[in-house]
Amino acid sequence: MNILILGGGGREHSLAWAAMQNPKCDKLIVAPGNAGIAEIAECAQLDIGNGAAVVNFCEGNAIEFVIVGPEAPLASGVADRLRDAGLLVFGPAQAAARLEASKSFTKEVCDAAGAPTAAYARFTEAAPAKAHVRAQGAPIVVKADGLAAGKGVIVAQTVAEAEAAIDDMFGGEFGAAGAEVVIEEFMEGEEASLFVLCDGETALPLGTAQDHKRVGEGDTGPNTGGMGAYSPAPVMTDAVTERAMTEIIRPTLAEMARRGTPYQGVLYAGLMIRDGQPRLVEYNVRFGDPECQVLMMRLGAQALDLMQAAAEDRLAECTVNWAEDHALTVVLAAAGYPGAYEKGSVIKGLEDCPEDSCHMVFHAGTAEKAGHFVAAGGRVLNVTARGDTLRQARDRAYAMVDRIDWPEGICRRDIGWRALK
Ligand code: AMP
Ligand code: GLY
Repeated sequence: MNILILGGGGREHSLAWAAMQNPKCDKLIVAPGNAGIAEIAECAQLDIGNGAAVVNFCEGNAIEFVIVGPEAPLASGVADRLRDAGLLVFGPAQAAARLEASKSFTKEVCDAAGAPTAAYARFTEAAPAKAHVRAQGAPIVVKADGLAAGKGVIVAQTVAEAEAAIDDMFGGEFGAAGAEVVIEEFMEGEEASLFVLCDGETALPLGTAQDHKRVGEGDTGPNTGGMGAYSPAPVMTDAVTERAMTEIIRPTLAEMARRGTPYQGVLYAGLMIRDGQPRLVEYNVRFGDPECQVLMMRLGAQALDLMQAAAEDRLAECTVNWAEDHALTVVLAAAGYPGAYEKGSVIKGLEDCPEDSCHMVFHAGTAEKAGHFVAAGGRVLNVTARGDTLRQARDRAYAMVDRIDWPEGICRRDIGWRALK
């Protein structure tokens, strides 16, 4: 099978790595890819937000299966254009991608599905939004309705902070994404992510993970795209996972089908768990980054079969073969991230890191320059390892981190702390 993966981060490197292990994969192209991906697959320059261009590329390169990594092309309908052209696609249609693209849409679906989530109210003007915040008190959560690259959520500790966030959002800080604002009850508990494959009808849980969103150790400092992750998430016991499937995921999928917009692809549910009760924080319509890296490390080649089965409406006949293993990934980022950072510094020592079914350095933002890997993004490398225990996976990952010679890079040394404490 000839496969195209859209995207160019650590998530897509791990998807490519898993796909390449599957004998079914004849040819793999990743667009745009990055310098690490280029070591295992062909990379192509392509405007992945332009459905017609992607269709054209697929036709020119005899592509048979397209895996869409990031949310932006899904939200802009690239999967629809590909399906219209008769291609097999892993990723939801634009109408179903609204589960990530609009927070108020997700709330509507949860209401109709009876799925437990935070109480909320939606606003298109600042004054009533502020009156609502004053009436509710803090802590309270203020969210821009649309896609804001993970930055449109403010967990306000005071009413003043919430009011400032409301002003920023209606003031255009997040562009059109902030034209509507959702204000939510603050939920307490422990957060975890559940990844579920869907083919429109059948839902197959693929695994759980926990992310580390803050840049600093001990979960301090500003939010990032994620500084590390591990799988499985201990808080997601079988009982909690089953409850999440029964109370949240399956009713959501049934409601999406009822609306005539069945969901196909991976549904990433961000959950808040308290006293064994999961509640939905948010949906994403793609794999998490870096959560995907730990899932792929654990799933290996079967990931491709499962994604293909989801695309072909065959999940009812599939099972996921889990080992009793653990995976952990440490993100190396450019100093300054998530604020301003430099690009172009040289990364050495990667050749000293093992590459096997328990060790892999996925590239998130690198380029090749004069025979060297150089940093080309905020999050640059995802140092990923697998082990029989989380501790072993963690020790293996940090042993690789210590071999990498990149003085301009930073990482958290405490990835996995919550599960290891
Ligand atoms: P999101 O971008 O929607 O994932 O939100 C970013 C982070 O904000 C989440 O991972 C949570 O830690 C936090 N968050 C979002 N909504 C709530 C909520 N209703 N209660 C508590 N924390 C929340
Ligand atoms: N790591 C969080 C995300 O991918 O949204």
